[in-house]
Amino acid sequence: MSKIRVEHLKYRYPSSEKLALDDLSFEVDEGEMIGIIGRNGAGKSTLCQAFVGLVPHFYRGAYGGKVVVSGLEVLKSSVSQLARRVGIVFQNPFTQVTGSKWTVYEEVAFGLENLGVPRKEMIDRIDYALQLLGMEKYRDRHPFDLSGGQMQRMAIASVIALQPEILVLDEPTSQLDPQGSEEVFRAVHRLREEGMTVILAEHNMEKIARYCNRVMLLDGGKIIDFASPASVFSRADLTRYGVVPPVYTRVCRELNAKREGSPHFPVTLEEACEVLKGR
Ligand SMILES: Nc1ncnc2c1ncn2[C@@H]1O[C@H](COP(=O)(O)OP(=O)(O)OP(=O)(O)O)[C@@H](O)[C@H]1O
Ligand SMILES: [Mg+2]
Repeated sequence: MSKIRVEHLKYRYPSSEKLALDDLSFEVDEGEMIGIIGRNGAGKSTLCQAFVGLVPHFYRGAYGGKVVVSGLEVLKSSVSQLARRVGIVFQNPFTQVTGSKWTVYEEVAFGLENLGVPRKEMIDRIDYALQLLGMEKYRDRHPFDLSGGQMQRMAIASVIALQPEILVLDEPTSQLDPQGSEEVFRAVHRLREEGMTVILAEHNMEKIARYCNRVMLLDGGKIIDFASPASVFSRADLTRYGVVPPVYTRVCRELNAKREGSPHFPVTLEEACEVLKGR
């Protein structure tokens, strides 16, 4: 069943003359994890905002077409209605922390208090979110005494506690070191195993290849390709779109190493090792 349906979406920011999103149509099924890639300014963040309704409700501007997330049409729903179905986590965890709470636990509780969730249910939801993100051992820590990776996981836990059906992550690890980044990706992977639908805008192609089942390549607000990581990363023209494929794909391309019968190059370390060992 499709969790997201986009039909001929066009969008232009009020201060701009050109379309930031130019006639996008696609569907995302329940439980998919979609990577959105493309050069700076390709439209990745704008598309993320279109899923949660900030485009067009907050940014205004010219909007055409239709976006339906979890059965709600974005244009006809408020941002707060949408927030119960689709959660978003931004680049910098600092921007997402309230700054007024003394513990991780209170921070994660904040959104639920606002929704007026009954106390018993609130406790269950917070425990679940902290446990899923591997944050229960930090529950009594001050939010600003966390590492970047922990803080981002706390931000994700706060969103997960609201029980969205879709999680949108806009470059969630770009501020993090490799370890913090890996912590976040493992946590997101666990969420997906729990059935969450995930949309991820990201510049780290190795991570996209490892964790996403489909990749959307954007350029100039248009969809250039939307297919498996192997298919997208095997394109010979990626540099034209400002994308450098995973290092494993580049090595295998250089050596012309493909799995027998496959038209595509390996995209992960494991696949590359398997193909190269077999030679
Ligand atoms: N608030 C805004 N007002 C006007 N134009 C904007 C605004 N935000 C983005 N844009 C423009 O919309 C286009 C798409 O930008 P967007 O931020 O979605 O790209 P992106 O793919 O997320 O880039 P990056 O990799 O740098 O995050 C760009 O031309 C950008 O300049
Ligand atoms: Mg962006």
